[in-house]
Amino acid sequence: MNPHPTSRRAWLLAAGASALAIIGGIIAYFLPRDLRDTPAEPVRAGALDELEARGYLALAYGAYPAIVVSTEAGPVAYSRVCTHFSCTVEYDPGAREFRCPCHDARFAGEDGRVLAGPPSEPLRRFDLFVEDGQVYLGSR
Ligand code: FES
Repeated sequence: MNPHPTSRRAWLLAAGASALAIIGGIIAYFLPRDLRDTPAEPVRAGALDELEARGYLALAYGAYPAIVVSTEAGPVAYSRVCTHFSCTVEYDPGAREFRCPCHDARFAGEDGRVLAGPPSEPLRRFDLFVEDGQVYLGSR
């Protein structure tokens, strides 16, 4: 007769929980940083004159590759992380649209909406402001 009838079950549960914790830690190690993080302070993107001449300003904004594009409504800032599977989109200032090289998605430069391809969400937008002729991402 077993004096500890649940000890084997308890051991198996503990071993299973430990294995899940280890596997979860390994998976978390290989996942990218939390892309929801953005800098606490404004980040200068560049001069408004340069934006208007070139049509865009590319920069790093925290963990994001970001871009400010010139639109008829004024400058608009986006994450360049595709909302499908996180490839980096490229901006075509001539066509005024973004293109994702991974699955041929296209996004509108004026508002980031999906024009074609598999993404269901528009590009993420960032706040921006202009001060002394310079464009900043973030809030004052
Ligand atoms: S990752 Fe951009 S379309 Fe799939």
